This record gives sequence, C-alpha cells and structure tokens, in this order.
Amino acid sequence: MIGVRKISHASYETPDLEHQLEYYTDVLGLTLIARERDAAYLASTNEHHSIILRSGSHPRCTRIGFQLGPNDDLDAFEKQVAAHGIRTERKKDPEPTIADMVSFEDTKGTVMEVFRQPELQKQPFTSKGGVVPHKLGHIAFHVTDVQRATRFYCDVLGFRVSDWMGDYFSFLRCSPDHHTINLVETGKNKHFHTAFELRDWAHMQTALDYISRRGYKTLWGPGRHGIGHNLFSYHRSPNGLITELFAELDLMKDEALGYFEPRPWHRDNPQRPKTWPKTPEAANLWGPMPPDEMME
Ligand SMILES: [Fe+2]
Repeated sequence: MIGVRKISHASYETPDLEHQLEYYTDVLGLTLIARERDAAYLASTNEHHSIILRSGSHPRCTRIGFQLGPNDDLDAFEKQVAAHGIRTERKKDPEPTIADMVSFEDTKGTVMEVFRQPELQKQPFTSKGGVVPHKLGHIAFHVTDVQRATRFYCDVLGFRVSDWMGDYFSFLRCSPDHHTINLVETGKNKHFHTAFELRDWAHMQTALDYISRRGYKTLWGPGRHGIGHNLFSYHRSPNGLITELFAELDLMKDEALGYFEPRPWHRDNPQRPKTWPKTPEAANLWGPMPPDEMME
C-alpha cells in the first residue's frame, strides 16, 4: 500500500488569533511566513508551514497534513482511500507550496490532507529568540473508540503500531519517529497535545527557562517517558491547548530489524514494539505522574 511518510503541518482554529500567533512566533520561535485573509502560516526551520492558525469559536485541531514519497502516485493513493468507503476531495493549489492534495476525514472528524512532497523550502535558521524547535513531531488526541481510530490510521494511511499502553492508548509511527499520532480513549474526541522536537536536553533547559520568563509554567515534566523514551515537558498555550516539547524520541531506524535504536535508558534489550502495562514507568521513568489537569 501507499503510506504517508511524514507529518508536515497541523491546522488549528482559535478564538483569539493574534494572541495565539504571538505565542507561536515570540515564544515558540516559529516564523510567520505567509498570511491570507483568514489564515496565518507558521514556518519551522525545515517546513514552509508547520502550523496554520485560523479564527474559530473554540480552540481545536481541525486538519493534519501528511506527505507521501516524492514518487508516490496521488491518484492511486486517493483510490486506495476510497476503497475503504471513505469520501475524498481533491484540491489544486490549496496552500502555499502544495500543488495537489487529497483530503478526507478520520474517524473523529479531523481532516487528513495528503500530498506529495511540496516544493523544497529552506528556512534560514533564526536566532531572533523563542524556543525554535526543529519540527512539529506528533499530535495526540482523546478519542471515543481507540481501536477503530488506530485501525483507520494503520489501514488507510499506512501507520504502524509502535506501542500500546493497556488497551486504551496507542502510539503510531509513519516514519522512523516512535510516534507521529497517539490516541487515548477517554470518552471524548478532542485534541490532547501538539509536540515539537527540540535538539537535546540542553535545548530543553533553555526552552523551559525561556518560556517560564514569558509566564508559561510546566504542567508536567521535565521527565522521561517510558513509552517512546523521550524527554518531555508540557505546558498550556494561550488558548488552552497543550504543547509538549520533547527530545530523544525512540527511532525505528530499520523496520526490518524491528526494534528501536538501542539507548542506555531502555529497560528491554532490544526495545521492540509491545503492549505496556499501565504502570508509572510507562508514563515517566523518573517518577512524577501527570496532574489530573493534563487530561482536562
Ligand atoms: Fe506526546
């Protein structure tokens, strides 16, 4: 099958667009690269746009953009999606740098936007301040039916299961990164968190010092997750949606080998995809558990 190969961008609606825009530019350090009447496009150092913001009545993640390989056939991909009984739409020049796109909804109504590699864009490395993450890494959602949503991402988009926590939390990869989408069954369909990749632990320290000076306190972390083994810290953005900053996420560098690149903090040797029991270690190898506020 033709599967998506990387996450490219995510679109959000937010009630106070200017405040959220200030957070993404001045605090996270993304670059406002294009502005249309109803949309603001924010670039990371390696994508023309990682984030799109639009005005809306309440904060929510509305769409996620995924890239196919440069030689993959978009027509064939669209047929493959339609074969699952899913209604697709085709859009020409829908966004800057994207010429042709297939869109359709996932099981919870989030729009999937799939396209071939856009025109390559190189953003100059900015030193103007802010966190300046490498890239948009993953998006986590609360869902009402995790089995159905997990099947959708695997069967329609070509994701692989990296890990489960119990039978209620799945971590799915479409690239070497341990997870690009994660889905937790909580009885609701809504955004859980959006995660940006930092360089390393030193970057985490300067990022947390910086955001705290700007008034953003961590909700949970820093710590090291068991599942995915990434360093993590979470805070709330101005509209209430949670942002995660992470580094050192597990990598499946070779699918044929079937294990994550060995790291000294792994407890399994080698670390293979598995179902983790619901233990404190699965959430945070260093100890502290998330506050109840994380799941609100
Ligand atoms: Fe995460």
